Amino acid sequence: MDKILIGKGNRENYILLNKMNRHGLISGATGTGKTVTLKVLTEGLSEAGVPTILADVKGDLANISKPGEMNDKLNSRLEELGISNFDFKNYPVNMWDIYGEKGIPLRVTVSEMGPLMLANILELNDTQTGVLNIIFKVADSEGLLLIDLKDLKQMINFVGENREEISKTYGNVASQSLSAISRKLLFIEDAGGDLFFGEPAIDIGDLIRTDTSGKGLVNILNATKLISNPLLYSMLLLYLLSEIYENFPEVGDLDRPKLAFFFDEAHLLFKNTPKVLQDKIIQVVRLVRSKGVGVFFITQNPLDVPESISSQLSNRIVHQLRAYSPKELKAIKAVADTFRQDESMDLKEEIINLRTGEALVSFADESGAPTVADKALILPPHSSFATLTDEEYRALVGSSPLYTKYKDPIDRESAYEILLERIEREKSEAQRQKELDAQRKELERTQKSNRSQKTYIDKGIDSMLGTITRTIGREIARGLLGSMTKRK
Ligand SMILES: Nc1ncnc2c1ncn2[C@@H]1O[C@H](COP(=O)(O)OP(=O)(O)O)[C@@H](O)[C@H]1O
Ligand SMILES: [Mg+2]
Repeated sequence: MDKILIGKGNRENYILLNKMNRHGLISGATGTGKTVTLKVLTEGLSEAGVPTILADVKGDLANISKPGEMNDKLNSRLEELGISNFDFKNYPVNMWDIYGEKGIPLRVTVSEMGPLMLANILELNDTQTGVLNIIFKVADSEGLLLIDLKDLKQMINFVGENREEISKTYGNVASQSLSAISRKLLFIEDAGGDLFFGEPAIDIGDLIRTDTSGKGLVNILNATKLISNPLLYSMLLLYLLSEIYENFPEVGDLDRPKLAFFFDEAHLLFKNTPKVLQDKIIQVVRLVRSKGVGVFFITQNPLDVPESISSQLSNRIVHQLRAYSPKELKAIKAVADTFRQDESMDLKEEIINLRTGEALVSFADESGAPTVADKALILPPHSSFATLTDEEYRALVGSSPLYTKYKDPIDRESAYEILLERIEREKSEAQRQKELDAQRKELERTQKSNRSQKTYIDKGIDSMLGTITRTIGREIARGLLGSMTKRK
């Protein structure tokens, strides 16, 4: 299969697999059929052996794992579509969740994310970015692993304490920059970053799989909770995209994409997120095309996607849009104008009057040009409309072989543990040194007061005292070493 039937209008509307990397857009007001369209696409891709990553904001995608059932509404839609041999099917699904509550925990290490992306996300200025870079470099040269936020915070302390020395080697490290970075890290931590950063970290290869029957794995990122933190949401999606970009070879146009990515509530990526992050997303979306990856944005209004991205989206599906205010009407005109149209249709009118599960569609054709807009009745999905019961959901998450691999966090020895141990050791050394000094002083005082009544015998005592002092010293030293080896 080299194309996916999405719907029927004046003609059959297919999205071509070899044009999936021209990216796409699914828009429409709430309840007009966006999610169902997304499912139809995902199912077609899975069937063709293409894995997908879907950010699920409403939590209504897990049922792709369950076969659908016939009902009257579905039956009349199939009749209208002229489809008689429709079969119900389910697809291989892995649920992911950075909070580890509604899916396999999805984690990333601080060092994998790297100083640059972190700086983007934290909105650091150039000076602060430079300092973050130094923090990573120092960690590297000291052999300290940066895995979770604890590690990074401890590393910031370490750099702060050794600021002067580090500045000499790496360039100026201002303490204001260090505290600014610490402050900004708190935001990420509050948003759940303490769970997001850690190990075992996600191996991108685990997302890009087919099952034993050759169906593409559907990876659903449960974002129902994550979405309340647009920063973390954008950060995660950008990270995944970047990882894919960096790990995939340059392939140009393939017969079918290697992977397709669907961003639900995509307007969140472009509102309330730092400008640098948005720019980065725009850049990666452009570049990832030549890696054989298709990216689809799902929004309530097509104009929620910035022009620089929108112009790159060659596969368009627009469901009904609301037209209550003059502003909305204007937006609809703008959307209509993005379609290639013939005279037979007034696209503005069509967009306003589309039924549920109906859409204006235009896909890249074999030459890459957009097909003339068509009003299409969208196919129903082969999988279920029903919400999974809690039990079904748990079973879905738990039955994945990857669940066992990722479920338990590992907190191996990294910067935090090592630096903390160093600090502890230095503290106890200082403490013992203090005790030793006090004991020496005490002995000297006794020696002095005895000296006033020195006899020959006293000389013997003197040398005895010397021995005692030495013995105490040795004992202290041994104690020190003992405690050090014990801690190891
Ligand atoms: N292609 C379709 N085939 C069958 N039913 C559909 C289709 N599209 C939408 N529907 C019906 O409309 C409801 C709402 O669609 P949904 O995709 O959840 O809307 P949105 O995601 O835009 O809010 C679905 O639950 C389903 O009952
Ligand atoms: Mg929806």
